[in-house]
Amino acid sequence: MRRDEPVSHDPASGRWRVFRYADGLKVMQDPETFSNDMSEFMPPVEELIAFQKGNFQNMDMPRHRELRGLVSQAFTPRFVAGLETRVLEVTRDLLDAVDARGDTLDVVADLAHPLPVTVIAEVMGLPRSDRELFRSWAYALLVDNGVDAIRSEAGVAAMAPYIREMNDYLTRHVRWHRSEPRDGLINDLIRAELDGRRLADVEIVGFLGLLLIAGFLTTSALIGNAVLCFDEHAEVTAKLREDPALLPAAIEEVLRYRSPLVWLDRRAAVDTELSGYRIPKGALVSVALVSAARDGEAFPDPDTFDIGRRANRHLSFGKGAHVCLGAPLARLEARVALTELLTRYESFRVPGTEEVEFHDPEGLLAASRLPL
Ligand code: HEM
Repeated sequence: MRRDEPVSHDPASGRWRVFRYADGLKVMQDPETFSNDMSEFMPPVEELIAFQKGNFQNMDMPRHRELRGLVSQAFTPRFVAGLETRVLEVTRDLLDAVDARGDTLDVVADLAHPLPVTVIAEVMGLPRSDRELFRSWAYALLVDNGVDAIRSEAGVAAMAPYIREMNDYLTRHVRWHRSEPRDGLINDLIRAELDGRRLADVEIVGFLGLLLIAGFLTTSALIGNAVLCFDEHAEVTAKLREDPALLPAAIEEVLRYRSPLVWLDRRAAVDTELSGYRIPKGALVSVALVSAARDGEAFPDPDTFDIGRRANRHLSFGKGAHVCLGAPLARLEARVALTELLTRYESFRVPGTEEVEFHDPEGLLAASRLPL
């Protein structure tokens, strides 16, 4: 597709699919032409509208800049770096539990799923015992109802009870924090101020929902994908065991080679053109992140898993104004979890592809079951 039809209309989904790296970058870096406001595509269901109020991933300037600016005051790289000890403790607890159980480790169920959910719950000051609830919300929004569910009446109807449950739950917690201030991200968000403006409860709830959903399955995918890459490339794993300082570069290569998110969506705000293809105003434009990552024009020898790439400018965390706010946390969790796996187990093997299960590859490039 990159060579023969780099921008292609898919009548089934209505998407204009963008396959080349350079075009993907243009889409992400031109917010006036390619808008993040996707509300036109979503059925006007009350629960979804409430969730969108603080979900600045679906907003354009100036609201996006204002809300992201407020939230960034609490969610700083320094704040994330301070979580390392706790991320390590949670990782060790999870793996100790597997060792005590004495049977096969399922990387997804035992580590890649519970680690990000537990960390984000603690960061927000929510009980980690509620993590099954968080899991069910993320699955309802991203997995169970299919990748295009958010744009269909039936899909949104199936999601609505979960979104309502999530909104109600988070609203209760924000109100508790307002009446009895406690340490944590919710409290920081309540106090954050920009140009005399503070966040309203609905905005905090929308942002917390965004964090729970955006930061969970993607980070799980990254950890599982790294294990799959390391299993396929024994020579790389041997190098990483010898020199753990290579791990951050290896994680970037995993992000490129197996991008957790398959698509990144925008709405054409005006009639436009990409690589000579005309895209009409109002169209759904989807960058195929997995294809951009294998574009030989951007990455020499793109199908080789090479942790020594000099400039690994992958798009897996997006680019431009909406670049992933949680990237430092995802990188930290992946580094800690993978270091622990490599040091704790002298060797590990994925027993056979028939035992590995995957999510719908149209939505999330990730294993849903990965026994070692
Ligand atoms: C945005 C990917 C982890 C929070 C994004 C975007 C991508 C992405 C591609 C850009 C969306 C766009 O341009 O419309 C990923 C991947 C992750 C990951 C691959 C893990 C490997 C996280 C984590 C968090 C998080 C751990 C927080 C706990 C966010 C937020 C945004 C975002 C808040 C919206 C930023 C904005 O619109 O300004 N992520 N993400 N993500 N991500 Fe992540």
